[in-house]
Amino acid sequence: GGLVWRGCSGDCDAEDGSAGTLADGNANPGDKLEGSDAAPDDPVHLKRRVGLFSGVALIVGTMIGSGIFVSPSGLLERTGSVGISFIIWMACGLLSLLGALAYAELGTMNTSSGAEYAYFMDAFGGPPAFLFSWVSTLVLKPSQMAIICLSFAKYAVEPFVSECEPPDALVKLVALISIVMILAVNCYSVNLATNVQNIFTAAKLVAIAIIVCGGAYKLILGNTRHLQEPNFASSTATLGNIATAFYTGLWAYDGWNNLNYVTEEIKNPSKNLPLSIIIGIPLVTLCYALVNVSYLAVMSVSEMADSEAVAVTFGNRLLGPMAWLMPLAVTISTFGSANGTLFVAGRLCFAASREGHLLDILSYVHVRRFTPAPGLIFHSLIAVAMVLYGTIDSLIDFFSFTAWIFYGGAMLALIVMRYTKPHAPRPYKVPIIIPYIVLIVSAYLVVAPIIDNPQWEYLYAGAFILAGLLVYLPFVKWGYSLPFMDKITVFLQMVLEVVPTSTTFE
Ligand code: ARG
Repeated sequence: GGLVWRGCSGDCDAEDGSAGTLADGNANPGDKLEGSDAAPDDPVHLKRRVGLFSGVALIVGTMIGSGIFVSPSGLLERTGSVGISFIIWMACGLLSLLGALAYAELGTMNTSSGAEYAYFMDAFGGPPAFLFSWVSTLVLKPSQMAIICLSFAKYAVEPFVSECEPPDALVKLVALISIVMILAVNCYSVNLATNVQNIFTAAKLVAIAIIVCGGAYKLILGNTRHLQEPNFASSTATLGNIATAFYTGLWAYDGWNNLNYVTEEIKNPSKNLPLSIIIGIPLVTLCYALVNVSYLAVMSVSEMADSEAVAVTFGNRLLGPMAWLMPLAVTISTFGSANGTLFVAGRLCFAASREGHLLDILSYVHVRRFTPAPGLIFHSLIAVAMVLYGTIDSLIDFFSFTAWIFYGGAMLALIVMRYTKPHAPRPYKVPIIIPYIVLIVSAYLVVAPIIDNPQWEYLYAGAFILAGLLVYLPFVKWGYSLPFMDKITVFLQMVLEVVPTSTTFE
């Protein structure tokens, strides 16, 4: 039989606890999808299996990851005030909600799987769409992976170095080990990866529940002292500072657009897509608000700002002999998120190289395991470099800066298409003011930190995006290929035991 891409199908999923979705949605005509209704020669039609509940679960499961366990300290440090940092937490939730609603229009208007890639293609044409897949496969996804693995490492080493700062080299080493482990899981089997995902999603909900209940208990005992210092006066906020504080907060909310990768699989999308967003994102916002309050019920502002791993500090204060529970739950949660992120990253890479946008080898899958091993290895290598040369905070800034350029771009795409395609069917139509607001805010988020405090990272990110054009013209548009590339591809194919997905045996 033919070797077909067996991505996420049947009852597996990515990055969340929802049932059976091709979470990244990178289905291509000709793919066989188990459980799909498609007749053999039909272009693929995915079964619509994501209802309201799974939609909400998918949003919540993707958004909650490492951020809520690492960002609160950084945000407090950057704003210098409980009041302002709380406002920023809530504003990040609101911004994600508005952004997601605009994405709901885009996603129901163009249901094809590439999400941003497809919207840019429709609104602006090839080059911007290429730049998006270029940046998301080479920068965005690996940096997500690096940030989450560094957070994992922070929590994994913290219990062993109590009361003093863990050596940087140790944290990085543990982060590297976690990348290798996650890579192994994902190369070994799709099923293993999705099982890890489901089990580990539960762990993060447990962690959040422990924190919220513990905090509530403390507050009932009357421990409201630290909450009563919302002294805006002590704030260190400048315009650029606020923008980078937003980067920190928005990291915790990132993933709000993930339903757009599965729009094809949502039942009654014009109703369920916006509804899942309207329920899911405020739910996450509420969790984050409660967690922040809980932290402050247990520690002071300066303790929180100084804490290396705020949930560990929380556990040590509150859980007594059960304190080990907290770092354990957070390591499991972050490991699960990193796993889900690599899972999706592998598929993105796979889809981009199929479009001829990346090296062919990256779209090949393992002969027996059917995992997109080359893409996964490639991503992990970039993530390794980022772990070695970056810190959580610098990577979050780098990530958020780059991501918001493209989120803003998607808003612009929506607005442009209201003019260029006024009659295209829009099953869900967002009030036009919303994309304008998000566009303006994202422009501010991207520009303010550069003006306020220019840093090399921003320049690198900008240069990298533009460098994409240098690749696009010769290799994609004019179709040149490097002379020795064929030999390298064949060599890698033999070493990694991978084949193109259209290969037919017999
Ligand atoms: N919000 C998540 C966290 O706090 C990060 C999600 C990364 N984004 C994604 N699309 N997987 O760790």
